[in-house]
This record gives sequence, C-alpha cells and structure tokens, in this order.
Amino acid sequence: MEQKNTSTSGEYFAMPRIGDDAPSFKAITTQGDINFPQDYKGKWVILFSHPADFTPVCTSEFITFASQEDEFKALNCQLVGLSVDGLYSHIAWLRTIKEKIDYKGMKNVEVNFPLIEDITMEVAKRYGMIQPGESNTKAVRAVFVIDPKGKIRTIIYYPLSMGRNFDELKRVLIALQTADNFSIATPADWRPGDDVIVPTAGSCGTAKNRMEGKEAGVTCKDWFFCTKKLPKEKVMEALKK
Ligand code: BEZ
Repeated sequence: MEQKNTSTSGEYFAMPRIGDDAPSFKAITTQGDINFPQDYKGKWVILFSHPADFTPVCTSEFITFASQEDEFKALNCQLVGLSVDGLYSHIAWLRTIKEKIDYKGMKNVEVNFPLIEDITMEVAKRYGMIQPGESNTKAVRAVFVIDPKGKIRTIIYYPLSMGRNFDELKRVLIALQTADNFSIATPADWRPGDDVIVPTAGSCGTAKNRMEGKEAGVTCKDWFFCTKKLPKEKVMEALKK
C-alpha cells in the first residue's frame, strides 16, 4: 500500500526545505527520550535516516558514523539517527555491530549517539524520509544538517543501495560554518585553504573598485566572479569558536 505523507491523524506533511525551521518532535531513542530540535539548541545536528536495522550498507554507515563521532563533535555537531524500526531492534543491532562486525579496520565500535525509534513513521514522514518511489516501508538515507538556531541548512538524500560519503558530510559542515563565520560562499569542490567567493557587490561603486583591484585581497574575473584567499588556519581556528 502506498504511504501518504500524512501523520496518523491525517495531517499532511510538506517536505522540509533548506531555510525552514527543523520540524519539532518528541521521540524515544537508544539514549533516552529527546525533544527535537530544542534539546540541541546552540549545536549543529546531523539528523539522518537509514532504511533498516540489520542490513549491510546501514551497518557500514553506523560503524563509520560512530568511529567519526568525535570529529563531528569537534565541529560542534551532534549525530542523531532514525529508522522505522523499534527500540529493541535498534538495541540488538547496535550490540551485534559492537560484538561481531568489523569494517575497514573499525571494530568493537560502540554507537553512543541516539538512534530514534519511529515505528509509526511519524517523524520519517514529517521529514520526507519515506519516498514511495524508492520504498513505502523504509526510510531513504536522508541527511539533514541543522544549525544551532534549529534551521535546516543542507538536505542530502541517497537511495537505499548507496552508503553515504563521510568526507562530504564533514566538508558540508565546515563549508556551512565557514560561510557563516566569514560571510563568504564556497565554490565547487571547496576545501579549507582554497580561495572563497566574495558575495557580489551590492553597489556599482563597490563593483567598480573591485574590478579595478582596489578592494584589498579581492581578485575579480568579472563583476560577478570575485574571490579572495582564506587560509586554512583561519578557517580551522574559527571552527573552534
Ligand atoms: C542495506 O543497508 O544494506 C540496505 C537496506 C535496505 C535496502 C537495501 C540495502
């Protein structure tokens, strides 16, 4: 049967979008109850869904998320997982991962971040994680990057068959925080240390000055394409604040 994007009481859920406030919900997790996103005020959050417990791609992802949790925490980012499985399935799966599974040299891995039980699919539907063309009964691999004010800043969806790229998830977090810290934008494939994009000038005078090389440190190829250097050390220093 096709899943409609409605709550159990029939309320229709639109897909959340970048710039929206993260929809709030209360849930039971493997680390106790949470009140989302209120419990995470002042922190970045990656809220992510996986299709099902006891499946191989999800297992490789959980081992990787848990192994890199400290790197996310160093970026002031908390991880919160979700699937439409129940709490006891989550607990049994995470225990099995720790006791039996190793992946790319990562073993004995304990998952310490909360994993939400969502057997009613209420949260998954609210966040557009159930995508019927892919599956009616499982969440796709969604990633919502939510900022310290509770706003959705990036959304990435992957299909059931594809594990996420963790370098990209960290790159997204760093790029968002760098854009906020320095009021710049980041070009294609940007990594800390690469040149950044200076926002288009708000007035003709500023644009003219820039084009004539009169704005210190700013280089323009044309009025709409201006860059400047942003050393990696400055980027990394600002991330710590
Ligand atoms: C997996 O995690 O391996 C998986 C889950 C659902 C469908 C396909 C693969």
